[in-house]
Amino acid sequence: MKRIIVTGSQGQIGTELVQALRERYGSENVLATDIREVQGSLRETGPFEILDCTQHHSIMKMVKDFKADTIYHLAALLSAVAEEKTALAWDVGMNGLFYVLEVARETGCSVFFPSSIGAFGLSTPQDKTPQDTIQRPSTMYGVTKVAGELLCDYYHKRFGVDTRGVRYPGIISYKTLPGGGTTDYAVDIYYKAITDGRYTCYLKEGTHLDMMYMPDALKAAIDIMEADPSRLIHRNCFNVTSLSVAPEHFLSAIRRHYPDFAMDYKIDSVRQSIAESWPNSMDDSAARDEWDWQPSYTMESMTIDMLENLQKKLK
Ligand code: SER
Repeated sequence: MKRIIVTGSQGQIGTELVQALRERYGSENVLATDIREVQGSLRETGPFEILDCTQHHSIMKMVKDFKADTIYHLAALLSAVAEEKTALAWDVGMNGLFYVLEVARETGCSVFFPSSIGAFGLSTPQDKTPQDTIQRPSTMYGVTKVAGELLCDYYHKRFGVDTRGVRYPGIISYKTLPGGGTTDYAVDIYYKAITDGRYTCYLKEGTHLDMMYMPDALKAAIDIMEADPSRLIHRNCFNVTSLSVAPEHFLSAIRRHYPDFAMDYKIDSVRQSIAESWPNSMDDSAARDEWDWQPSYTMESMTIDMLENLQKKLK
């Protein structure tokens, strides 16, 4: 039976991944941690502890006390906020990961590391971005993700630590809001469709980015950690994608259900330039070949599910 610690469990992915892991492996076997105190479902459905993952001794104590064998290391700052808080983004992104890997080396834990489309840059081929390609990102977020991928591979090759990860696209969900990413518009637009009937988008029409609905993101995190290691040629990190979409695609998908929904544009130059440095679409064939990755949701099925759930949540 797995004993899992999740860092950054109050973030957009963490909140839902903890629940998915608890359903799969038993609530008592999944310890949710975060630097902030938590109320609500994370505490009610299983164990929770405060953890500052920039402190080696705190991670070590928690792994030993909980007898953990797996760490899902999600603690990080998203891309736009990382441009505002570069030192903190480095500290959490790099020192946090380094200590998690050190503890994993000493205790034999497996480590899941979420990289991102942010690990690519302007010199990367932008369409059908290959698994193995140029990675020269221009953001602090991207720098920490590329360095994180390399560090995870290093710990696997040098010390035999079972490190695995995926490069997530923008994640869309109705439960927890993302905090300060470049792809956040793809979540905001659904909220505004329900509350205001209109949305002002900060990215330009035609700005294509990879996106994914949360249930597929959770599936990716669980499936890669359960994958047969003998099939893995890559480890850190696999391209995974579901949709390559631009703002106008959300507009038309929502209009099929809310015909009066309207959108205009007011461009945020920082997030626009970050988005333009990221792929239009990733090639995730390595994940499909090596661990049978396959997303389930389409733009239409995701839109129906988002609107139905947000109607209940926001009424
Ligand atoms: N969703 C992230 C961001 O926008 C990308 O991984 O920062």
